[in-house]
Amino acid sequence: VFGGEKASNYDWVDLPTGKCRKLTDDESNNPAILPKDSKIFAIGDVRSAGHSESGSFEFVFEGKKYRPYSGSHWKTTLLGMEALKNNRRLIVTGSTLMYKRYLDDFPVFQLTNHWPDVRPSFQQDKIYVVQTATKVIERCLLMTTDPGDLILDPTCGSGTTAYVAEQWGRRWITIDTSRVALALARTRLMAAKFPYYLLADSTEGIKKEAELTGRTPPDHKPENDIKKGFVYKRVPHITLKSIANNPDIKKDMTREEIDKAIARYAETETLHDQPYEDNKRIRVTGPFTVESLSPHRVIATDEERPTTEMEAQKEAGVGQFETMILDNLKKAGVQNTIKNERLKFDQLEPYAGEWLHAEAEYTEKDGNTRQVAVCIGPEYGTVGTELVKEAAKEAVKGVGFDLLIVCGFAFDPHVSEEAKRYGKLNVLVTRMNPDLSMGDELLKKTGVGNLFMVFGEPDVDIRKQKDGKVVVEIKGVDIYDPTTGQIRSSSTDDIACWFIDTDYNEESFFVRHAYFIGADEPYDKLKRALRAEIDESVWSSLYSTVSRPFDPPKTGKIAIKVINHYGDEVLKVYEVK
Ligand SMILES: C[S@@+](CC[C@H](N)C(=O)[O-])C[C@H]1O[C@@H](n2cnc3c(N)ncnc32)[C@H](O)[C@@H]1O
Repeated sequence: VFGGEKASNYDWVDLPTGKCRKLTDDESNNPAILPKDSKIFAIGDVRSAGHSESGSFEFVFEGKKYRPYSGSHWKTTLLGMEALKNNRRLIVTGSTLMYKRYLDDFPVFQLTNHWPDVRPSFQQDKIYVVQTATKVIERCLLMTTDPGDLILDPTCGSGTTAYVAEQWGRRWITIDTSRVALALARTRLMAAKFPYYLLADSTEGIKKEAELTGRTPPDHKPENDIKKGFVYKRVPHITLKSIANNPDIKKDMTREEIDKAIARYAETETLHDQPYEDNKRIRVTGPFTVESLSPHRVIATDEERPTTEMEAQKEAGVGQFETMILDNLKKAGVQNTIKNERLKFDQLEPYAGEWLHAEAEYTEKDGNTRQVAVCIGPEYGTVGTELVKEAAKEAVKGVGFDLLIVCGFAFDPHVSEEAKRYGKLNVLVTRMNPDLSMGDELLKKTGVGNLFMVFGEPDVDIRKQKDGKVVVEIKGVDIYDPTTGQIRSSSTDDIACWFIDTDYNEESFFVRHAYFIGADEPYDKLKRALRAEIDESVWSSLYSTVSRPFDPPKTGKIAIKVINHYGDEVLKVYEVK
């Protein structure tokens, strides 16, 4: 049906021969088979309800006399009725005089709260299981915001809101608790390309607007201000009144002359979802940053713990949070980034230590049983070096543990160095999945995969060049294999991106260099789309395991952040003299 479900009463047609008739079913379903210059219309009323003396005059049409029924009146004056007749807008059905409303008079339909066109269809290119269709978000966004507005989506998933906002010239902030979601959203935005919409406040936009309205353009210098919006397509809105009151419509005018006269006086509607595009240009996502809470949110949990609290812990064993974590750890084991390299416990029991929460056993590939101590970091906050130090001291003192697992949601950047200080005692820095803080109900649904992960630390080479500048090369990530107790280096294929803060101030990580690597070049499509614009040398320096040379840090420290394809990230600080 033309124009969606609401156009179903457009079932008549004016043929080029001058005749009109009802549409056949075939023609309704496929208007393209109608002869050229046919005009589809709906039958509407020329009368309104309620009696009025002045609106009850007799009107002659094709030799017959018509009057409005009692209790109604003509919608327009005698002159207006004449104008409708001259415009061939009148038709008799049965014995009633009616009005022809052409589909072209107003070829759009207002949306209601029923959106059958956004039904989740079979979305082939989904990158996230619960990805929202762009059309749904686009409609909400266009209904509620203007270009330049700021949109917040606190549960962004694959980043559809940010993607749509970027396309429509809105600013955005987007959040998720899942590192996987953030990794997907980041890649999606970085690889995206969008149509270039004509800005109303630009030279081309002003020209286009003048062309459309026939008005002289305003005399001000365009500033490309996105807040002034785009240049949108518009449609005529021809009404019975605009024809009836049209002073230019005269007897014996041709259809073309009448159409022109109508166009001069008809109103237009702006289609805010249909800006004009400049097909010669494409856009990419504007600059954005990805921020994470870890590892800078340091809440002192271990340094100033009151003795009373420590005593209390000893007595009570472990609290509710720790019990929940231990239950899950027992079931899930510890996983590194490689499949089948899971540390599975033969047994795990709570341990009433000062810093240790559990003791466990597991068997290595060679059949040897290993003793494990477990320390659980704070429920809210970051694991600092102090905690690692104390837990390690306690583990060394005790039964003679081989391995200490320190679990945390976030880690201070120096923790990985600290973890290496204990010789025979292997300290495994283990990241807990944030899903763990969401309670047991949710966990039952998501399953126990990847709840406790060891993500190794960057394997880097830092070189000083002859000119005094520093170059960093990333060689991979050191991964601990829990099944053998060995550390080995994984390849750079596992790395999605790596960043350098070339002058780290110990407080916040500032991305001064960014490199995007990975096995299958994820931005290849974008690169091809931008072929003409791209400076090949700049591109290849972004897709690199060797950094561009930079000045030695004034702070004496650089920090390197490495993120894998799952969104796991690790930050390490290096001294550079
Ligand atoms: C239905 S998905 C959103 C899908 C998204 N509109 C898209 O197109 O991909 C909901 C998201 O909310 C996230 N989430 C759940 N609880 C959250 C919380 N408390 N804070 C932030 N994000 C949360 C989940 O990780 C998930 O990615």
